[in-house]
Amino acid sequence: MGKSTTDTDLWRIDERCIQCGAAQTAFPDLVAEGKDRYFFHRQPEGAADIADAWRAALLCPVSAVRAPEGLAMPAGLFPQELAPDLFRLGYNARASWGAHSYLLRRPQGNVMIDGPRWTRQIVEWLEANGGLSDVLLTHKDDVGDSGRYAKHFGARVWIHGDDRDGATFASDLIEGEKPVSVAGDILAIPVPGHTRGSVMFLAGSLLFSGDSLAWDHDDKQLVAFRSVCWYDWPTQLRSLARLAAYRFDRVLPGHGGTVDDTAEALQGALADMLKRYHVQAV
Ligand SMILES: [Fe+2]
Repeated sequence: MGKSTTDTDLWRIDERCIQCGAAQTAFPDLVAEGKDRYFFHRQPEGAADIADAWRAALLCPVSAVRAPEGLAMPAGLFPQELAPDLFRLGYNARASWGAHSYLLRRPQGNVMIDGPRWTRQIVEWLEANGGLSDVLLTHKDDVGDSGRYAKHFGARVWIHGDDRDGATFASDLIEGEKPVSVAGDILAIPVPGHTRGSVMFLAGSLLFSGDSLAWDHDDKQLVAFRSVCWYDWPTQLRSLARLAAYRFDRVLPGHGGTVDDTAEALQGALADMLKRYHVQAV
């Protein structure tokens, strides 16, 4: 008779799950949404897959993602390089409902986009990779422990003036609805709607979209979230329509899935989304 498999031999998500979607949106190949909580729709196989399952465990803000008992976690899982000098920071914060955060490594100073929870692993990585010069906050919900990182590294912190109550420690305020350059050559595009002071950041062809725009891995389309629109949905739709004026080949949200494709494909996906929401691109 073979050894029986018990629950603790498997990768699993326990009852602590707050359904923030962090693990699923980063690793849809492993994790799916269930009725009361997320779950592994298949067990990881092979080293790369198992590393992703460990990343899911580190992303989870409430430690609900559980590894098989006795399995040792490899080192260096986060920050995870998604493209040259673009990293997912991991260690999503409970305070931001598990929002994703990112890092751009640049010779002129590294930039954190939204805030993870405070961890020694990120601090040590930043110390070994040139520190931190700027923190860009897409809006007041996804601040995490960014203030503590900014203080530790002496970084400037940018947020829109209309969301300043979410980050009273910010050093620089973005005002109005006109796009402005921040942290050198990054374009801050105000997109009021999800919150009044929501902003997207366009760094080259990378669009950090906050909670205003994301990729739906199930339906393979760009989406916005009406049920968690805290300020004004028609305003958010007007903001999204203005994105048609920009070229981007990767969308990196706080909540929701990321996508990378050609700029033409993502312009098409944006146009399709606007059509579904009955909005004219401007
Ligand atoms: Fe949000």
